[in-house]
Amino acid sequence: MHILSASQFDRSFLDNICQLTDSIRKYSKSKFGTKYLQSLCSDKRAMLYFTQASTRTFLSFKSACQILGIQSSDVRDTSTSSEVKGETIEDSLRVFSSYVDTVIMRTPTPGLCDRIANLLDQTPRPIPIINAGSGPDEHPTQALLDIYTLYRSFENEGGLANRIILMVGDLKRGRTIRSLSLLLSNYPNIKIIFSAPKEFQIDDDLRQKLSGQDFEETEDFESVLPVADAIYMTRVQDEYDSNGESKNIPIEKYYLKYEHLNVISPNCVIMHPLPRRHEIDHRIDNDPRAKYWRQVRNGMWVRVALLTKVLEVSENLLP
Ligand code: CP
Repeated sequence: MHILSASQFDRSFLDNICQLTDSIRKYSKSKFGTKYLQSLCSDKRAMLYFTQASTRTFLSFKSACQILGIQSSDVRDTSTSSEVKGETIEDSLRVFSSYVDTVIMRTPTPGLCDRIANLLDQTPRPIPIINAGSGPDEHPTQALLDIYTLYRSFENEGGLANRIILMVGDLKRGRTIRSLSLLLSNYPNIKIIFSAPKEFQIDDDLRQKLSGQDFEETEDFESVLPVADAIYMTRVQDEYDSNGESKNIPIEKYYLKYEHLNVISPNCVIMHPLPRRHEIDHRIDNDPRAKYWRQVRNGMWVRVALLTKVLEVSENLLP
């Protein structure tokens, strides 16, 4: 099983991943459970091929490997691999597949993970590829941890259905926005409000993918703050600028300010995939509605759950 796009998941998979993650977190609370988790994949090896910057996704996958007893190796800089001698990325990945049982890939190139997965499927070692972020395109494992964070946040509040989710920032190039929007369409009666300057609004391709989904686009950030059950903030993705054009787009009025805590709902869930720049005031960090640090921790557990799926040992964990 490859993990390539949020669009590959249905509601039953999402429910299963949330239950599996809950179960793994319970195992991790005892010494016996921790040892059991470490025994599950102690015969497996993983390659972390991260050729675009990452803190959370790299370290959470690395930690998830340690939790499951998986031996991991990594390439983070192609100047230290034989790609510098002209080896193609396809050949490099085929080489990795000879050594490991799964490759976890972070790349600036949209569609590359799919291409590699198709290529390996035609070889004698069709190992699973996990998309850990593919340019401005997709970040399916981030979207799964976001869903898990929403699931936990609304667990005792009637669940994730019937919610208004406000997404803010660089929605055009934010891969987490794209992947999470696709996953949210698996839940009934969800409305997504996209708030951004027009230059950063979602693209036509996402509009088309969301046909049938209730969504709205607005430049009036402050007017929609009070109705949101969850606010998903994102930073400007200026690594994809061609000529520094982001600097000329007024984004400051889309920042979540300390004063906004008085107008948002008392149970609102404030999220951010991180890294953050100035889009969330640091004084908000201590408010109980701020869930972005919990997202970071959830990411590790969800990635443990995903690895057990990909390596086909998850049946040993569900009650
Ligand atoms: N949220 C996220 O993908 O963070 P990193 O880029 O640090 O992995």
